[in-house]
Amino acid sequence: MRVTNSKPDRITADPTEKPPIVLPDFDLSAQSSIPFNGRFLNPGILVNAPNPIMPLLDAVCTRRTSRAYSSRKVDMKTFHWLITYAMNAPTACNEQKWKVIYIDDLDIFSELTRRGSASFLKNVRQAMLLCYNRQTDNIHWADHIQSGAALITTFQLLAHSTGIGSCWINHLPNKPEIRRLFKIDHAYDPIALVSFGYYNDKVRFLPRKHDSSHVVMINRFESGRLVLKDSRSGFVRRWARFIYYKIPAFIRCRLQPYALKYERKFYNEIFD
Ligand SMILES: Cc1cc2nc3c(=O)[nH]c(=O)nc-3n(C[C@H](O)[C@H](O)[C@H](O)COP(=O)(O)O)c2cc1C
Repeated sequence: MRVTNSKPDRITADPTEKPPIVLPDFDLSAQSSIPFNGRFLNPGILVNAPNPIMPLLDAVCTRRTSRAYSSRKVDMKTFHWLITYAMNAPTACNEQKWKVIYIDDLDIFSELTRRGSASFLKNVRQAMLLCYNRQTDNIHWADHIQSGAALITTFQLLAHSTGIGSCWINHLPNKPEIRRLFKIDHAYDPIALVSFGYYNDKVRFLPRKHDSSHVVMINRFESGRLVLKDSRSGFVRRWARFIYYKIPAFIRCRLQPYALKYERKFYNEIFD
């Protein structure tokens, strides 16, 4: 075959070309998986009527982070069910080297809070610490973090469909401290903590900030379209965080009540 750089004079229609596939749009008010009253979703309905076969689009578009849960505990069988199916997530080289530390010891949540983790953790009763084998040869792309993250997103969707809300948490002490607290093997890296529990009630529906046209770029990074915000406050927060978690834990525990007022809050449930 001869390859030329010249452009064809005329683009002729390809008779074998199929018409574009039309995919359905998500309609929050029309979906029937989660009641919606115009402002709040009520995923609590799934607690007694789990619906893991709800339309995928409904699950993806109605899952929202939940940081407050009912007092009913997620049993171990259900937790294993969630992990079993979440393990269908992709991993680098199909290695599937996750380890999940299930946590229901309330002293651990108090200890994490005392050491300066997300403050709502003090009211949490169940969580998992997701770890992934860090013996990757592709350190540059942090393969192991990406593989760990893939399980978390799958877990959150599955949990949602069964009436279980969750929150992905990285507001934690530094990794060496977490490693010591949980006695994590040197071959593994803690990736994130995920709190979970049955939905209590309503969750405010927060639409996404942008649509795909804001995000998609074609063939190259289109820097001309960027609108960057002033990075000074980010810089200060980054340093403050760096210093705060370098402070020995026994001192940091005393500072924690003062540090609370600087905690960044994204809370969107009405009862937070
Ligand atoms: C990598 C990552 C880290 C996060 N860390 C925290 C955290 O430390 N504390 C918290 O309250 N939420 C945390 N979240 C949850 C986000 O705040 C939440 O996903 C975001 O506000 C969007 O809300 P949505 O999940 O309801 O769409 C984290 C989410 C991700 C993906």
